[in-house]
Amino acid sequence: MTLLLGIDVGTSSVKAVVIDTAGNVLATASAEHPMLQPRIGWTEQDPGEWWNGAVLAIRRVLSSPELGNSPADRVAGIGLSGQMHGSVLLDRRARDRHGADAVALRPAILWNDQRTAAECVQIEKESGGRRRLVELVGNAAMTGFTLPKLLWVRGHEPHLWAKVAHLLLPKDFIRLKLTGEIATDVGDASGTLLFNVDDRAWHHGMIHRLDFSPSILPPVFESAAVTGHISPWAASQTGLRGGTPVVGGSGDNQAGAVGAGVVGRGHVLATLGTSGVVYAHADAPRKDLPTDDAAPGRLHTMCAATGTDQDRRGWCVTGVTLSAAGSLHWTRDQLFPGIPFDELIQEAQTAEPGCDGLVFLAYLTGERCPYAEPAARGGWIGLTSRHSRAHLVRSVMEGVTFSMGQILDLVRSAGVPVEAVRLGGGGARSALWRQMLADVMNRPVVTTNTEQGPAFGAAMLGGVGAGIWKSVESAAAHVVQTIETREPGPDANRYAESRERHRALWPAIREIITRAATPTTHP
Ligand code: XUL
Repeated sequence: MTLLLGIDVGTSSVKAVVIDTAGNVLATASAEHPMLQPRIGWTEQDPGEWWNGAVLAIRRVLSSPELGNSPADRVAGIGLSGQMHGSVLLDRRARDRHGADAVALRPAILWNDQRTAAECVQIEKESGGRRRLVELVGNAAMTGFTLPKLLWVRGHEPHLWAKVAHLLLPKDFIRLKLTGEIATDVGDASGTLLFNVDDRAWHHGMIHRLDFSPSILPPVFESAAVTGHISPWAASQTGLRGGTPVVGGSGDNQAGAVGAGVVGRGHVLATLGTSGVVYAHADAPRKDLPTDDAAPGRLHTMCAATGTDQDRRGWCVTGVTLSAAGSLHWTRDQLFPGIPFDELIQEAQTAEPGCDGLVFLAYLTGERCPYAEPAARGGWIGLTSRHSRAHLVRSVMEGVTFSMGQILDLVRSAGVPVEAVRLGGGGARSALWRQMLADVMNRPVVTTNTEQGPAFGAAMLGGVGAGIWKSVESAAAHVVQTIETREPGPDANRYAESRERHRALWPAIREIITRAATPTTHP
């Protein structure tokens, strides 16, 4: 039986998934790695730890009894995915002995690091303002993105910067160790602020403007294109077969979308994890350039992982609300500790849609989208003594859903059509939340059979690169099946008024609240 391997370099662990060509998950394994926080707001990881974790996870997954004898010989293709935006800096010896000796010059600065506010201001200024930056590279300057990190290292660690010969994104360090090749993919490159998402190539104007040498940037491949093969050294470390092809892969959001079958026009993935992500596939690079006085770039515009060597296409727009299922967790832990989520949600069902006027703003860790405001703050408004625990819990779920609905509206205003919404993340296990999303988004919401996230999507990309499927779309058609579809129901209209109240609230209180607040997280 032909096997495919997906490897995801996550923020807390490396995950390895082996699937067959029907999309069945045959085995999974993971290995955790620590996050370093040398100062408040700084987050770093040692790429060497990712590699140790990848070796462990690959060895573990290959020894799963479910795979039978000599599984490595049957792995036809390997795909990589990973946390985006992290800066892996290497010197000119990176490729010596096919990457066997490669060691990062310093720990990678991660996607959720906050140290670069000043560099973000500098980037906007040097590119001619926020709007111009979004026009150039599809994205506004956010502390989490890669370019501000490069400016920070250049400014604060000049001796180290002088040695930098290569920049890689997190998963690409694993590629280097596995294959000896320096490369990245169009999706991860889109999160650097140095990439022209329209042309799917490095943005030489930006590189020049910020005075970087283009030679530090890796060659860029489409996500399903083969970028190299397992080296004899990597085979000896991992148990993989030397010569197995490794494809470009992508950032975790793009690879996760492939795993959920969100690969065509009108497809959207809404993920209710700690944060809530709305990811929409687009057949052109649509940018968030509002015509009113709202801030441009609340949505990120990136390349999707649907391209192959022959067919370089597919984009996505994404919006992230920072505290989604995280808000429900906070409510349970702080107000109703010890009560199972199922019980709280069942009770929440007894409250009417709209919660008798109670509105929750879910900006518990600042906000990224629909408002790009690190100083945003959350809370309930409209409480009366008639409100109960059921109302408190339901209003939190509604507040998060309204924010996701607002993001979907931004997606539509950016010119991206929305037909059906697929769901992912822990929050989607709740039938009440699924129906609420269908009612508020006014679109059918779909649950699929694939729940393995980015590693699963990466394995599918490996299959396309190995020639098992001719395109990412045909991989998705073979592998991803619908389990449940929920249509917007009779409650859809009943949310209209509370949605409007929710939408009007933050602009009305922003001045008063942000005066007292200092920015928290703004990944
Ligand atoms: C994407 C982003 C996160 C990381 C975390 O823009 O910052 O989703 O990729 O894994």
